[in-house]
Amino acid sequence: MFLTEKLRLVLKSTLAVVSIAACAGATIIYAGVNESGGEFGVFGTPGTGLPGEFGVTYEFINEATVDTWVDTNQINFFRVTMLMERMCPVATGLGSTFNETYFSEYEAAINYITVTKGAYALIDPHNYMRYNDPSDQPDSGSIIGDTTDPKAATTAQFQEFWTELASRFVSNPKVVFGINNEPHDMATSLILENDQAAINGIRSTGATQLILAPGNGFTGGHSWTQVTGENDDPSSEWLFMLVDPLNNTAIDIHEYLDEDFSGTHETCTQPGPSNLAALTSWLQEFNLKAVVSEFGGSNDPTCLELLPQLIQYLSENDVYIGWSAWAAGPFWGTNSACCGTTVGSLEPGQVNAEGGADGYTTVWEAVIQQTINLGGKRSNPTTWVIFGN
Ligand SMILES: *[C@@H]1O[C@H](CO)[C@@H](O)[C@H](O)[C@H]1NC(C)=O
Ligand SMILES: *[C@@H]1O[C@H](CO)[C@@H](O)[C@H](O)[C@H]1NC(C)=O
Repeated sequence: MFLTEKLRLVLKSTLAVVSIAACAGATIIYAGVNESGGEFGVFGTPGTGLPGEFGVTYEFINEATVDTWVDTNQINFFRVTMLMERMCPVATGLGSTFNETYFSEYEAAINYITVTKGAYALIDPHNYMRYNDPSDQPDSGSIIGDTTDPKAATTAQFQEFWTELASRFVSNPKVVFGINNEPHDMATSLILENDQAAINGIRSTGATQLILAPGNGFTGGHSWTQVTGENDDPSSEWLFMLVDPLNNTAIDIHEYLDEDFSGTHETCTQPGPSNLAALTSWLQEFNLKAVVSEFGGSNDPTCLELLPQLIQYLSENDVYIGWSAWAAGPFWGTNSACCGTTVGSLEPGQVNAEGGADGYTTVWEAVIQQTINLGGKRSNPTTWVIFGN
């Protein structure tokens, strides 16, 4: 998801998915939430939100609520957003030169989740496969690797960025590498090229952890086998060509359940199982796995019905190995993370815009938490690996 304003967000997004296969006995290895906040505060005039100020315009996690998630809700997976223009200031460009202050702040969040709490952390450069101007995400910024845009960072620079980042987490087995958030409206062949460059960079460091590779159309599951944008090839026609020498790369999928899959509406009308059917078949055909790293819904009865159906579907189809709901995070306040303006966020202990309980209570506890408890007994509480049934 992208946000646009400091604390006031507007979300949009798209996603998609597909399929119905019924393979019983699947295992969800990673189950949890997005921690959104590290990308906040950039909306408006280009450059004005950069670099931003930690704790004022952006922040990654609230340690106390991560404690709640792990200790009380028993989740084991956090997708932690960050902004590439903050990690690699535009003045020095995308690559291996990091802003060490921003990196240390991010690393502290990742280490809290993984080392202190023992959960998994998915690194999420929340950039739509664009770099140099996040002021009007998801549309601003040059497409990485676009050789017709003189201001664009190159695919080689993207590989340098990932090589450096992976080298810094190479010895942390609880880290998962998400190549980029929601590429869209670009050549699908270029997404393949950029994904492959990231994989090559990550593996060159000796890092063996799971990598998540996104496709086109905001990496939507429902549209995985469809043309997206202005006639961009379906992700399904290119992404099976990814090569990971360790065979440890899964497809990163986003899927919202409202009418246009944008995650902006309060009402859910798009059933996950049927919309994911084609994706599921494609994953089976190419022997690939997927993680649904964003999905969401409001506390409207239609969403409270369709959200658990989606999660149940993922746990019943063994091509899916994990999911994270959108979104918790330290800076949402009374704002909604998705799905209309009144639900609030999934951050524990907050209220929504009307002063009532936020989505943590009315969505997560109301229906999502139940799927963890019912669908799946954690088979290994000490190392916390397995959810699912
Ligand atoms: C690096 O990040 C810190 C923290 O946001 C910020 O204060 C500083 O100005 C940044 N430096 C550069 C060169 O962007
Ligand atoms: C990865 O998968 C390919 C194709 O199935 C196989 O030939 C190769 O040995 C696998 N590599 C590893 C490291 O498992």
